[in-house]
Amino acid sequence: MRRSHILIRFTATLLYPSLALDNGLALTPPMGVNTWNSFRCDNVTAVNIKAFADVMVSNGLKDAGYQYVNMDDCWSTGRDPHTGELIADPSAFPLGMNELSDYVHKKGLLLGIYGDRGVKTCAGRPGSLDFEEQDAKTYAAWEIDYLKEDSCFAKFDHDSAFREYRKMRNALNATGRHIYLSLCGWNEWYAEAGKDIGNSWRIAADSDDWPHVYIAARTNERLAQYATPGGWNDPDMLIGSVQSNAIYITPRQQRTQFSLWSIMSAPLLIGSDLQTLSKHDLDTLTNMKVIGVNQDVKASAQGAPVFSNCPVFKAKEQNLFKPWYYPISKAYEIVLGLAIAALATGLCFVGSLACACTCRQHKNMGVGCAICGCILMVACATLAIYMRINIPTVDDCQQTWVKRLSSNGATDVAVLLVNWGTSAKTVDWCNASCLANLGFPNGACAENLWFDYEPESGQSSRWLRSISGIVPGDGGSIFYRLSSSQASCTNTSSAQQTSLMM
Ligand code: GLA
Repeated sequence: MRRSHILIRFTATLLYPSLALDNGLALTPPMGVNTWNSFRCDNVTAVNIKAFADVMVSNGLKDAGYQYVNMDDCWSTGRDPHTGELIADPSAFPLGMNELSDYVHKKGLLLGIYGDRGVKTCAGRPGSLDFEEQDAKTYAAWEIDYLKEDSCFAKFDHDSAFREYRKMRNALNATGRHIYLSLCGWNEWYAEAGKDIGNSWRIAADSDDWPHVYIAARTNERLAQYATPGGWNDPDMLIGSVQSNAIYITPRQQRTQFSLWSIMSAPLLIGSDLQTLSKHDLDTLTNMKVIGVNQDVKASAQGAPVFSNCPVFKAKEQNLFKPWYYPISKAYEIVLGLAIAALATGLCFVGSLACACTCRQHKNMGVGCAICGCILMVACATLAIYMRINIPTVDDCQQTWVKRLSSNGATDVAVLLVNWGTSAKTVDWCNASCLANLGFPNGACAENLWFDYEPESGQSSRWLRSISGIVPGDGGSIFYRLSSSQASCTNTSSAQQTSLMM
């Protein structure tokens, strides 16, 4: 770090201890891989992290721009009882974290780790509350480059959340090592303060199925104003389409999610097991035209819809301490929820009987009994709300997202047509006046960004005066780059419409 830089930071820290995160990182959205969706709590080991790094080099992901190899929860087994230092699971990391970071760095990649601003991580490993400075120093000593800081077992009011995250931010700043800080608080209200604290901030629940991809996109469509070089809205990881992974979507949805994350300038963090990546998924993840849209943030930091026939969307607050806010959607969660609800109902019933018997015995059917009954009713109602089953759904609707690109004097525009419905749809994705508003009054050359992978999807480029073709359902999409150059268009016949299929 330059001397002037250190002096400025030192003075600013004395005068104003909550100086913004100052690591110069994330000038474009980060790209990398994360272990959570593929490994969960199992197999987070040095051997597997190294294997991810090896694959990233050998299969072209590194060349495509992916840098971060991020381990998620479950790498730690506790704290040293004497020093309080975090302990990396000795059976998973027998040679220590420095050996792993050396390995990853020698491959030209960067190493990420996971923590929590509360007392425990979501999987019950040690959290950093009141250990922020010590943990930041540990991460710096291990030569970590990226920290995902989760929000489990923590206070959920905004002030506490920001205060705790700022403590970690300040602690990271103080180490002098440039460590990317990824806030993981699952709520859109992080966006406004996000840039002051972290390099990215999760805006919604885990994107671990197609409905949650929809929720993340609908949440993010209003947050474009908060994205800026250095700080990005984070709609969570990219899902693969390989069915042996714990989490997967269809190949078509996988491509659409990638296109959406690209136009939303979202972090591109692969949530698949790299060792079982399919050719289809690798092709998707290395489409340089689509990555180019994601990384092009000079003319517009994040895209947003210009057309949407989707219903008004209200994001649900994610709050583990108010479980009625927390969507219960997976089959096992539903079964568990019903089991607990049945147990609670049984207990309430027995309690009410006991209450009634006691009242009868004492021949007191008045105030005491009423209070007893009221308490039980409140308890039952609370449990019923707690158990509310909330299955997220995808609305049958269509959207056109756009993002201005910096090329050709910032006249080019990326346009993504997304069909959230289940069946193929033809709508006015962008009519002539919409194209005129985007700067193309005489029509535009529309380059199909997936053509190299899906030649059956139509022509590589064609001149359009409006965009109103058919897009298949179940996550179908078409991704164009619009420019005004007729010369670059392979088909300049006066086509009025597109009928590309994906
Ligand atoms: C939370 C986060 C996930 C993952 C897990 C790990 O659910 O949102 O992305 O990090 O915790 O326990």
